[in-house]
Amino acid sequence: MSCVLETIRLQLRSCQIEDVQIVHMLWINDCIRYFLFDNRVISLDEAQSFVEDSLANFEQHGYGIWLVFERGNDSLVGFAGFLPSQQGTPSLIYGIHPDRWGCGYATEAASAVLNYALENLALSKVRADVDEPNVASVRVLEKLRMRRIGDAIVNGHPLIYFERSRSEESINS
Ligand SMILES: CC(C)(COP(=O)(O)OP(=O)(O)OC[C@H]1O[C@@H](n2cnc3c(N)ncnc32)[C@H](O)[C@@H]1OP(=O)(O)O)[C@@H](O)C(=O)NCCC(=O)NCCS
Repeated sequence: MSCVLETIRLQLRSCQIEDVQIVHMLWINDCIRYFLFDNRVISLDEAQSFVEDSLANFEQHGYGIWLVFERGNDSLVGFAGFLPSQQGTPSLIYGIHPDRWGCGYATEAASAVLNYALENLALSKVRADVDEPNVASVRVLEKLRMRRIGDAIVNGHPLIYFERSRSEESINS
């Protein structure tokens, strides 16, 4: 099953098993992995396991990881989506290739998946956990009008927690 979302400049499609190589290349990029994987270079097997989990999550919950492309261009520019949590509130994640940073793509892609989760899937809320020094990501969450609900030090890392509920005003992608 493939789930496609479109925005003004981007096309997002759910990550498939045949995408493992390209998404692995993105995830091990030194600018992407720094906050996403605590700077760890994940193996291809680990990337495959994330993609398999994403496929299972699409089946079970209707969400997972979408790959982000510029419309009319086959080159992968990023990803956006949700990880399930034990508390039941999915956690928003995203990343954009550094060649395209500062174009508003993270905000545009994350808006699309956020709206899909809150409106199409009718989830009551979504959350995001961000490393405090990741100022670009904090800014993206602010632009998405996610609400800061707390902070903590986890394994020595300062984290900020954000949340957005369906009852709050919808976001234009
Ligand atoms: C965080 C990330 C997704 C942002 O991608 P992006 O496409 O450049 O984001 P956008 O262009 O939509 O918005 C970035 C905002 O941060 C701001 N910003 C960027 N770097 C900044 C900095 N060093 N200090 C302050 N603001 C900064 C930009 O000016 C922009 O805000 P503005 O529109 O008000 O000017 C990208 O840096 C990334 O992929 N990082 C690695 C993966 C990651 O950390 N993901 C988040 C955790 S899951």
